[in-house]
Amino acid sequence: MNESVIYLPEVDSTNLWAKHNLDKFGPIGAVYTTHQTAGRGRLGRSWLDAPHKGLYYTAVIRTDLVQPATLPLFASLAVCDALRERYRIDCQIKWPNDLLLNSKKIVGILCEVGPDGHSIVVGIGINLAQPQEYFDAAGLPHGTSLALQGVPVDMDTDPEWLAQYMTDFGFDRALYTYEAEGFAPYRERYKALCVNLGRRVTYDGGAGTAVDVDDEGRLIVRDETGDTRVFTGEVSVKGI
Ligand code: BTN
Repeated sequence: MNESVIYLPEVDSTNLWAKHNLDKFGPIGAVYTTHQTAGRGRLGRSWLDAPHKGLYYTAVIRTDLVQPATLPLFASLAVCDALRERYRIDCQIKWPNDLLLNSKKIVGILCEVGPDGHSIVVGIGINLAQPQEYFDAAGLPHGTSLALQGVPVDMDTDPEWLAQYMTDFGFDRALYTYEAEGFAPYRERYKALCVNLGRRVTYDGGAGTAVDVDDEGRLIVRDETGDTRVFTGEVSVKGI
């Protein structure tokens, strides 16, 4: 059991809390809650909360990474592994780091740099037991929860188990390889789960077929003029 995994009954945002409380963590630590009042999403969006129906988790990493820009992709594999271990389910990854189950989003990830300039906070929101009305009211037709997909979720034990597992196995143990060698050792496993590959995608500035993910975590999109390496922004996948 990792001593640096902190539980808070309620917090505005685990990413914000982690950034303001870096001194509370060891080299690898985490904070989690099931009730977040001001959750933050990617691209300036918010991450909504249905109290005690989701897991809101942030890992704090204080290390020099050779490829910090690939951390979101590495983190998505850590979450896939934890969900497979706990529930025996196989998620897919929508580049760069959304996890899908049955083509619907169940996990979002937001990585941010801490105020000291070198700590990184990896925020992970997992939809565990939100009802359909929550996604309808929030205008999230592509969102779902594990419970809605027929996965038996136990809100009394699963949040703590997942928080501990992701911290110990997803980040702490795997980080030695990742900090030294970057994304390359994880690339094939990532590609096997990446739902974009082989499909038509649109991105900020173009459209084409996603054909590969490179060693630096960029999505390679091919059109009649050649290949574009997409490294940031929103990529939508036709049919999903
Ligand atoms: C996304 O927009 O897909 C990313 C969502 C990330 C949400 C998580 S919940 C835990 C952590 N704390 C936050 O405020 N955001 C992240």
